[in-house]
Amino acid sequence: MASSTATTTTDPIITGTGNARFNADAANWDSNPSIQLATSLAFESYLSRLPPPSELSSFNVLEIGCGTGLLSLLLAPHVRSLTAVDAAEGMIDVLTHKLSPGGTYEQVKNVRPVAALLEDPEDPIIKIDPVTGEAWEGKFDLVISHLVLHHVADLAALFKTICGTLKPGTGRVVTTDFENFGPEARRFHPEAKMDGVERHGITKEEMEEILKGVGFEEVKVERGFVLQKRVESEPGKGDMEKGPVMEFPFLVCEGRRV
Ligand SMILES: C[S@@+](CC[C@H](N)C(=O)[O-])C[C@H]1O[C@@H](n2cnc3c(N)ncnc32)[C@H](O)[C@@H]1O
Repeated sequence: MASSTATTTTDPIITGTGNARFNADAANWDSNPSIQLATSLAFESYLSRLPPPSELSSFNVLEIGCGTGLLSLLLAPHVRSLTAVDAAEGMIDVLTHKLSPGGTYEQVKNVRPVAALLEDPEDPIIKIDPVTGEAWEGKFDLVISHLVLHHVADLAALFKTICGTLKPGTGRVVTTDFENFGPEARRFHPEAKMDGVERHGITKEEMEEILKGVGFEEVKVERGFVLQKRVESEPGKGDMEKGPVMEFPFLVCEGRRV
């Protein structure tokens, strides 16, 4: 396998909501135990749904909303390449640092961090092969996205873009996010962290409709795992360390591009 240095794009096209919050949170993102736990649970959930290693190892993967690359770096050894996109430059800077010489993942040569809000499936920003560093005209075998959908205002537009990045006939999307199981789902975030939160979780019905509506087949939306997470004792109290532990079910959304 040819190797290349991971690249961060420098284009000033970051326009998504909540970027200020994620840029600010990036440096301490990995020290949050519930983020780490959610990533591990999601990773197991993805692996159990993906093809066997003989097939998966040839996959070119696109991750939308990779953050600091927690999930990206777990999946990278199992796939050919991983293009890791996030709208917050601060998050991408942390991932780039991990992959740089002296970083904790300097040996990983198949992940390419990209700071961008992806709206066009043909955007040249994702048309570089992370492994060779050369221009690439291909489509992805798989798109993944974890804990991002609740930050996206127009989910149909996002899934339309995702669909366009995938190989026709075989390309698959698998995403994970917490379920909107009722008013208590709001407690997933402390009240002080609602900037950029567009919805308090996703529902099976809305996700099935969206995936089918933009051109996915074999659509399946089901509970994948449950995250136990400490929440504020009362909304707005800001005392996450003292509050109760709540259970948040996560939905796994899957589809294949027609
Ligand atoms: C809650 S964080 C999750 C990050 C990472 N997936 C994780 O679990 O650690 C949500 C991330 O999605 C990114 N994001 C939100 N909307 C996005 C979009 N439309 N395109 C790319 N990234 C987006 C944010 O910048 C943020 O880093």
